[in-house]
Amino acid sequence: MTFLAGPRACIGYRFALMEIKVLVFTIFRDIAFELPSPAPKIENGPALITRPIIKETDGTSKNTMPLVLKLAQHE
Ligand code: HEM
Repeated sequence: MTFLAGPRACIGYRFALMEIKVLVFTIFRDIAFELPSPAPKIENGPALITRPIIKETDGTSKNTMPLVLKLAQHE
């Protein structure tokens, strides 16, 4: 997303970023993230920086993040 730069740059830049953060928070607040069952084996994988990788039973590894998304229960 670009807001351009220079004297005619978007003056709503900071406000728009804050709005996006509020939107993302509002959506994610209602979602619970859980590991699937049975939980996969997660290890540290070297990939420029250390990343979590899924280790399969046959020794191969996958760059995926299996998650179960549920509606969060708020009190
Ligand atoms: C995702 C949201 C937004 C994007 C991507 C965006 C992008 C841009 C871009 C690219 C320009 C330059 C246009 C040009 O000169 O041709 C611009 C200008 C402008 N934007 Fe935004 N904008 C966003 C949100 C907002 C918001 C929330 C406001 C006000 C609260 C705002 C107010 C303005 C104003 C007043 C200008 C004219 C600035 C000037 O010409 O001096 N924008 N915007």
